[in-house]
Amino acid sequence: MTQRAPSQRKLSKLSGSLVLVGAGKMGSAMLDGWVARGLALKRIVVIEPQPTKAVKALARRGLTLNPKGKADAASAVVIAVKPQTAPDAVPPLAPYVGKATLVLSIMAGRTISFLEKSLPAGSAVVRAMPNTPAAIGRGISVAVANGKVFARQRKLASDLLAAIGKVEWAGDEALVDAVTALSGSGPAYVFLLAEAMTKAGIAAGLPAELAARLARETVAGSGELLHRSPLDAATLRQNVTSPGGTTAAALEVLMGPGGFDALLTKAIAAATKRGRELAG
Ligand SMILES: NC(=O)c1ccc[n+]([C@@H]2O[C@H](COP(=O)([O-])OP(=O)(O)OC[C@H]3O[C@@H](n4cnc5c(N)ncnc54)[C@H](OP(=O)(O)O)[C@@H]3O)[C@@H](O)[C@H]2O)c1
Repeated sequence: MTQRAPSQRKLSKLSGSLVLVGAGKMGSAMLDGWVARGLALKRIVVIEPQPTKAVKALARRGLTLNPKGKADAASAVVIAVKPQTAPDAVPPLAPYVGKATLVLSIMAGRTISFLEKSLPAGSAVVRAMPNTPAAIGRGISVAVANGKVFARQRKLASDLLAAIGKVEWAGDEALVDAVTALSGSGPAYVFLLAEAMTKAGIAAGLPAELAARLARETVAGSGELLHRSPLDAATLRQNVTSPGGTTAAALEVLMGPGGFDALLTKAIAAATKRGRELAG
């Protein structure tokens, strides 16, 4: 897998239109990122039954919202509706999908094969799995392309996803269930860590509010340190652990039998299995 740094203002050069289908949490985060990266509002079409105030405000400044009438082939169609909505929402997009159109879907569990069957034959499809830090431009997405995607479309998919964070490419769609289990669902594990640390702090005698603040800032600050540091997680962990000290006493429990590694391996395996069951 290859990593790309978020790109700045690359989208200002996009020719043709970009159709966003579903401007909920994820779709809106992408939209904000594209606009911040120079994508002209007049190039953007949003299809969304319940647009937010922010989307309506963009529509007043030139974005096209819920167009009526004849649709032309777009440069890209980005699908960000809930997976259960897909059977109704995807087939009507056919008029927007021409020979040169990139279709980028971020729907969890909706496979490339589902998209190919729901769209005109030969469509260039990229399936991507982002995660919720996308809301602050700090997500990570893993993308997989079908055989119809050519280099320029792949680059466009990278640029569109870079608006909400980092982008990795996987060569094999079979990896997406494990990706979903690790980075897609991963923010929930980190929030659970903050919750568990809060409860443990209370059990150790701290007032509840102080425990919650300490847990929140520790998780957030450590995440930021990991983000900014050139060191890997294991080295950063070792740097706070002196032999025979307090951290070492805690890590002996966390890294012992049935500890963190074993629990997360089990949890991620369960999520991967569930992803496989839900895929369609
Ligand atoms: N949130 C995550 O952690 C995460 C991570 C990775 C991938 N994803 C994927 O991202 C996608 C969007 O998730 P989300 O959290 O942003 O969901 P969301 O906030 O519910 O957004 C989906 C939006 O699509 C709209 N919509 C429904 N039917 C439509 C149609 N026929 N045409 C156009 N728009 C339609 C919905 O409107 P209504 O409210 O009126 O139904 C809603 O505003 C999902 O497929 C999810 O699997 C999410």
